[in-house]
Amino acid sequence: MTDATASEQELSKQFITAMGQVATGVTVVSTDGAGGRFAQTVSAMCSVSADPPLVLICLHGRSPANEAIVTNGVFCVNVLATQHDHVADTFAGRPWPGKEPWDFTCGHWASARSGAPRIHDAIASFDCSVHDVVDAGTHKVYIGRVSHIEAMDGTPLIYSDRLYHRPIAHEPSVFEEFPDARPAHLN
Ligand SMILES: Cc1cc2nc3c(=O)[nH]c(=O)nc-3n(C[C@H](O)[C@H](O)[C@H](O)COP(=O)(O)O)c2cc1C
Repeated sequence: MTDATASEQELSKQFITAMGQVATGVTVVSTDGAGGRFAQTVSAMCSVSADPPLVLICLHGRSPANEAIVTNGVFCVNVLATQHDHVADTFAGRPWPGKEPWDFTCGHWASARSGAPRIHDAIASFDCSVHDVVDAGTHKVYIGRVSHIEAMDGTPLIYSDRLYHRPIAHEPSVFEEFPDARPAHLN
């Protein structure tokens, strides 16, 4: 192994460890159609644009969902709530006892307008058509044009440090030297 390869591997390990510190929401990205029915747990999801409404997701190139999404031309981003931890695990290939990997009998599913499976109590579902696909290292980045949205109240599931969490509101910091200091937007 050359020094350059070793240092690239070291950087990649540091990258994975540091990214583990990042807190994200958790989604299940699903698709259905001639290319088959698939879903995959994805934390790499973010808003791109509101007008037109675009989101992006990053999927490992090895995932069977890639071919299905490209063939079907559609996907639905289901934003998970805390009751969906077992759904996240199932579609990350680590089902709970009694369930198979990629087993759609976990959770309650409806059909999005595109035909993609939609988790009926997801806190938000973004039904998308494929707008663009970009190859990026080990992953493919899908930009989805949102055609329909469902949303409901719930507590978002958070992933950080390889564990699921629930959000807790953060009280503004208090500084002894400046006891009256408060964020201006709360005054
Ligand atoms: C909370 C969580 C978030 C994940 N986010 C992503 C993601 O954004 N993109 C991705 O390609 N895989 C993501 N994964 C990983 C895949 O869901 C999982 O590794 C894969 O389905 C199992 O493949 P493997 O056993 O071959 O690694 C995530 C897994 C978990 C548990």
